[in-house]
Amino acid sequence: MRKKLSAIKGMNDLLPNSTNIWSEIENRVKNIFARYGYEEIRTPIVESTDLFKRGIGEITDIVEKEMYSFVDNLNGDSLTLRPENTAAVARAVVEHNLTYDGPKKLWYYGPMFRHERPQRGRYRQFNQFGLEAFGYDGPEIEAEQLFLINRLWGFLGFNNEYMPSLELNCLGSTEERILYKKALTEYFLKFSKDLDDDSKRRLDKNPLRILDSKNLDMKDLIKDSPKITNFLGKESIEHNERLTKYLRDLNINFKFNTCLVRGLDYYNLTVFEWKHEILGAQSTICGGGRYDNLVKVIGGKSLSAFGFAIGMERLIDLIKSFNTISLKKNLDLYITHIGKSALAKALIFAEQVRDTELKIKVDMSQSSIKTQMKRASLSGASFVAILGDSELDLGCMTLRPLSKNFENFKAHQKSIPLESVADFLLNSLKNMEKEK
Ligand code: HAM
Repeated sequence: MRKKLSAIKGMNDLLPNSTNIWSEIENRVKNIFARYGYEEIRTPIVESTDLFKRGIGEITDIVEKEMYSFVDNLNGDSLTLRPENTAAVARAVVEHNLTYDGPKKLWYYGPMFRHERPQRGRYRQFNQFGLEAFGYDGPEIEAEQLFLINRLWGFLGFNNEYMPSLELNCLGSTEERILYKKALTEYFLKFSKDLDDDSKRRLDKNPLRILDSKNLDMKDLIKDSPKITNFLGKESIEHNERLTKYLRDLNINFKFNTCLVRGLDYYNLTVFEWKHEILGAQSTICGGGRYDNLVKVIGGKSLSAFGFAIGMERLIDLIKSFNTISLKKNLDLYITHIGKSALAKALIFAEQVRDTELKIKVDMSQSSIKTQMKRASLSGASFVAILGDSELDLGCMTLRPLSKNFENFKAHQKSIPLESVADFLLNSLKNMEKEK
């Protein structure tokens, strides 16, 4: 026998028992994005490796060790499966001059690829919803995006103890960060023998990254390191104060975390993350910030920008943990049959009734009625129909509700003339919806 093939480690199939919740959440997120005037953009999955090296920064985990990069043998180009989409969206904005008539608000959704060690909440192929706003300088766009995320949490049923928590930091301007990096380097140099290998390597080129270390042995050293807040100038402080005032005005809770530097190098001023501890080690569901220098770094003119991305797998994990969403049924009617002529009748009947948009599945097997009924109850349908010789003679169908509200399904079954089945189902489904 040939070896059985399986999916690539860290790249998961999404099976039918999950795709319905995924679609429901995708629709809700898109609905919220549209309410704030964001438009969809779709960029390719593969981009030039250079885009991410320049955009995300050479001394980051993503570029150093997580990119799926390869050479296109047909022309020698170095290509990469996108590990994130901000750099690619910025590339598209420049390439198509999307801000020619003013600021632009864009959203995207799709798979990203990072060669990380797979574990709960961390995959090699994962999906992100993201927002990117180009051409907005002030804290207003930042506040509006945080309002949007806060509204989204409500829309997904995350209230009270289910609510993710918001952490903010201000990374200042390039000039302020140069001074801060110098102070950090001097501080960590004093403790160089206590640094882990990653931090030693980063000390030279990107000391901010040390603050991002997940190594618990480094925790105390990081806690006592110089704080960015002592290096911020008047403008940065004012920007941050205006943003936090907007958040207070709408009673959005947040914690200021001076160690929050994010894993990508393009940020300045505001950065933020929403987390939920129930997710364990990979607790960040959403992260983003301001990146006013990225567009220039990838070859465009100076253009301010602010955005974030939400990890769908972590979001779904959270929704499942709290069971905050009840899904509509995927199927309204499952038709079983006894005998060939009943199957033929079922097939034609179902096709006619689908004009009403009812969702119907016909069991086309030759299985016993018992097995068909078992399948019907596993199908998630609201009703099962039985079509046998006596029903054919009478021109009717036996309909039985499968909803959990009915403990004794059989006692609620009814014989309905074929021409009235559609109306009967539509009315019953409407009433069931009301009772919810
Ligand atoms: P990020 O923090 O790298 O930011 O990713 C954003 C979110 O994607 C994370 O908070 C997490 O929920 C999810 N995520 C990241 N890596 C994985 C993984 N390996 N498996 C599962 N989920 C993951 C960015 O990607 C930036 N582009 C966000 C941004 C947009 N900043 C400005 N605009």
